[in-house]
Amino acid sequence: METFQSLLARRLSAALTALGVSQAGELTSATDPRFGDYQTNAALVLAKQRGENPRALAQSIIAVLDVGDVAEPPQVAGAGFINFRIKREAIVAKTRDLVGDEQLGVTPTTDPRKIVIDFGSPNVAKPMHVGHIRSTFLGDALARIAQFVGHDVIRDNHLGDWGTQFGMVIWGWKHLLDRDALARDSIAELVRLYKETNERAANDESVREAARAELVKLQSGDPENFAIWKQCVDLSMREFERAYELLGIKYDIVRGESFYNDRLAAVVERLLRAGIAEISEGAVCVFFRDVPDLADKPCIIRKRDGGYNYATSDIATVDYRVQDLQRDTIWIVTGAPQQLHFRQIFEIARREGDTADFRHITHGSILGEDRKLMKTRSGENVPLRDLLEEAISRAGRIVAEKNPDLREEERAHIAKVIGIGAVKYADLSQYRMTDYVFSWDKMLSLHGNTAPYLQNAYVRIRSIFRKLGHAFVAPEKIALAEAAEIQLAKKLCQFAEVVPQVLNDFRPNILGNYLFELANNFHAFYEECPVLKAAEPARSSRLLLCELTARVLGRGLDLLGIGVPEKM
Ligand code: ARG
Repeated sequence: METFQSLLARRLSAALTALGVSQAGELTSATDPRFGDYQTNAALVLAKQRGENPRALAQSIIAVLDVGDVAEPPQVAGAGFINFRIKREAIVAKTRDLVGDEQLGVTPTTDPRKIVIDFGSPNVAKPMHVGHIRSTFLGDALARIAQFVGHDVIRDNHLGDWGTQFGMVIWGWKHLLDRDALARDSIAELVRLYKETNERAANDESVREAARAELVKLQSGDPENFAIWKQCVDLSMREFERAYELLGIKYDIVRGESFYNDRLAAVVERLLRAGIAEISEGAVCVFFRDVPDLADKPCIIRKRDGGYNYATSDIATVDYRVQDLQRDTIWIVTGAPQQLHFRQIFEIARREGDTADFRHITHGSILGEDRKLMKTRSGENVPLRDLLEEAISRAGRIVAEKNPDLREEERAHIAKVIGIGAVKYADLSQYRMTDYVFSWDKMLSLHGNTAPYLQNAYVRIRSIFRKLGHAFVAPEKIALAEAAEIQLAKKLCQFAEVVPQVLNDFRPNILGNYLFELANNFHAFYEECPVLKAAEPARSSRLLLCELTARVLGRGLDLLGIGVPEKM
């Protein structure tokens, strides 16, 4: 099913070809609905190129533009924009067609990719904290959307399971381990081991040396240290999995840094042989002398002591994804501070002749109410688990107040859907690079651009269908007359335009915004147009709008990784 936008763009391009000119400008949804539904700046762009009058050019484009089957006669506006207003019949017909479409109008991409998406990727023996939230939510949403539009997606959890933290952790394990504490809360105990060892090492040269020796032993395959390391990884993974379960996050593969360990030596040899890397002051480095802003930022891939690092492991990771997994597209989602690192990694891959499409998708931070990086009162990172538990209990209180008659079990389920949804949506509804303030009151509000507001719109619709009392069968033909009906129908038709757009610059917030507008349009419609009390044919047509709205809201939220309750 072709969207209005793509159909108009096709017709515009045919008109330009007929005029014998090159393709120009864009066809987008209108910035001001008073002037229409879509607009193009094609005449403006062309006029600039050829030094002609844009309004006159717009008129000659319109003269050969054939859109009469879907749009009113196009209008020239402002400096030379061409505006389109979709015909009512075309909106009505498309809306009716959406009912039978599982994909709600979204057609498979014409350029399907084999994507690996690396997101979340927390570190072992450290708690997963709110800093990992954004990468996890963003990556999950992008993976869902990519799949929905027809890409082949592998979700990879690139655990930080081979860092230098293990020297400290293993020394701590051997000297300070409290087995009971480990059984109670393993991550907390691992973190304590790491921190206490770290503190001792800071004051005591012999501890520092001993911890370093433990790391070397681990890296050279010592069985005892390897066994301790393995336990740390397993315990951490169990904890992460509990969070993923709660969050509804799934990975296809988990390939932590350790997975690449035995490939690192070969990576360095290969880069040296190819002349891409060189030895400098005893270390092996890649220089980017010809890249202006990287010229003074070499990338070390083997340290002077012979050890490998994060960069070496990411080069091996690229190889694995391109060669073993046969991916042509690699998306890595992390905080903005890793930008330099990935520029270097992608540049090295390019020098090795890799043609895959590499994207580093970065995000900003979550701030506390004081606008500083979010921390607990004692200055620690906020553990994710605590945060999610609080979200659920706060949502539970809201639900209990709103709907005191719910059974305990049902309320617990709804609280989970709303609480987790609120935290995810607060994040995903922001532009990913924007730092945002984490505010319980805002994210759990039933008003404004929040998950509970969208979920509530969905719930309202579900209750209409419960009152209807029987299964709704969509009528063959629908009739829409009221302005609020048309507006809602138009919005529903735009779902298919918005979803693919998210991937242009990795912005799930575009989808969030769309859903918010849809819910607003629905509420305006519901206020003006009685549904169950209306006479036919309005009644069935309006029920159809309700049903589609619920489906789009449900699907849209699902693409953001957010669930919907049936009641709340
Ligand atoms: N473990 C890293 C961190 O917590 C993120 C890993 C990102 N992926 C990668 N291939 N390096 O910051």
